Amino acid sequence: MLPKIIAISNQKGGVGKTTTAVNLSAGFAARGYKVLLIDTDHQASCSVALGLKQDFDNKSIYAALVGLAPIQDCILASGYKNLDIIPSTPHLVGAEIELVNVTEREYILTEKLEVVKPLYDFIFIDCPPSLGIVPVNSLMASDSIIIPLQCEYFGIEGLELILGTIRIIQKRLKPELYVEGVLLTMHDEDNDLSNQILDLMRTNFEDEVFDTYIPRDPAFIDSTASQVPVILSKVPSVGAKAYDRLILEFLEKYNLNKIKKNGSRKLN
Ligand SMILES: Nc1ncnc2c1ncn2[C@@H]1O[C@H](COP(=O)(O)OP(=O)(O)OP(=O)(O)O)[C@@H](O)[C@H]1O
Ligand SMILES: [Mg+2]
Repeated sequence: MLPKIIAISNQKGGVGKTTTAVNLSAGFAARGYKVLLIDTDHQASCSVALGLKQDFDNKSIYAALVGLAPIQDCILASGYKNLDIIPSTPHLVGAEIELVNVTEREYILTEKLEVVKPLYDFIFIDCPPSLGIVPVNSLMASDSIIIPLQCEYFGIEGLELILGTIRIIQKRLKPELYVEGVLLTMHDEDNDLSNQILDLMRTNFEDEVFDTYIPRDPAFIDSTASQVPVILSKVPSVGAKAYDRLILEFLEKYNLNKIKKNGSRKLN
């Protein structure tokens, strides 16, 4: 089944979740696919990465989840063609407590997204490095999950944690939740351990690991300063190329066109 709603998730922090969510969203949008990026982390890094500076209090994923505003009203234009965003705010921390007594609280986002779903080809959900009602809502609302995994020793520990969480959700709540793949990130070819982890993951999780991996690239640090996703930067980089390769790998897997009709991007 072609996934429409894809969570980018790993309970471990700093593994490249937001970088992946932002670059995939921007890259698919540039290829003409209509994309909604939902930031479900109170750190609100997606809006920063896209250079959005408004006050989002009344139009945010927090407002949508606690019922302050209809979710459609929380969708903002990103400034990039085909790419919309539901931003986050620090208030999202409060949602964990505010939603405790709501009935069927794991399904709030699933239900709210019903009206929004027909408007997009893909909806990417950037998850926080934690587990609670909001992240469980994100996984429950998703068709599949991409798990970024940093090529370092503690990355493997994080993988066991997120796979455990997914297994519980599959067993108790949503058997059809599908792991799209593990995405190896921040690979450093000059580092032995980084290479060993790449080999180990490819040998042991052959089908579950994307062929594409993301190298460590200073361009990502520059993009934090410029607030332009590397994949849209005018300056070419190995990081941008890797995320574009990942998009092509995904499009091939699901037999989709490299450029959708209204795409703004030239073919490489
Ligand atoms: N391939 C890469 N090479 C170099 N730096 C990277 C790469 N990917 C991400 N980074 C940088 O690493 C930091 C963490 O990345 P990111 O914010 O995407 O991780 P995260 O998993 O979303 O973190 P958190 O768990 O805090 O939400 C950022 O400063 C980002 O710019
Ligand atoms: Mg993040």
